[in-house]
Amino acid sequence: MKRSCFLLLPLLLAVLLAVACGSSNTTTPDVSAGADLYQEKCSVCHGAERGGGIGPGLVVHGLTDGQIETVIREGRAAMPSWRGSLTGEEIDNLVAYLSED
Ligand code: HEC
Repeated sequence: MKRSCFLLLPLLLAVLLAVACGSSNTTTPDVSAGADLYQEKCSVCHGAERGGGIGPGLVVHGLTDGQIETVIREGRAAMPSWRGSLTGEEIDNLVAYLSED
């Protein structure tokens, strides 16, 4: 009886660890996916190098992650809202890409 407990404990820990790691993976934004998406959807207005065009340059922008997310989600003036066409995960990836140095 006691012996089987000793065998179960490491197994239980391994399962917990796997669950914890698995869930953190799915919430970590994917910067390179954000970069691809940027080229596809945003570069027309903000420039391939994020230097600006119709929209402002997005290299040095002084915006917080939350502000970037709000502008993408809600739009602002001539900046379209992407709420209906991008998933939350895609927006997170874009925010991660745009807040990179
Ligand atoms: C149709 C052209 C257009 C497209 C496409 C576009 N934007 Fe914009 N964006 C703008 C304009 C214009 C502004 C400035 C809005 C204003 O004057 O307040 C802006 C502003 C922004 C800002 C705020 C910049 C600042 O300094 O305040 C962010 C962040 C941004 N856009 C991100 C994106 C992302 C990410 C995408 C792709 C999903 C995107 N934009 C696609 C035109 C565009």
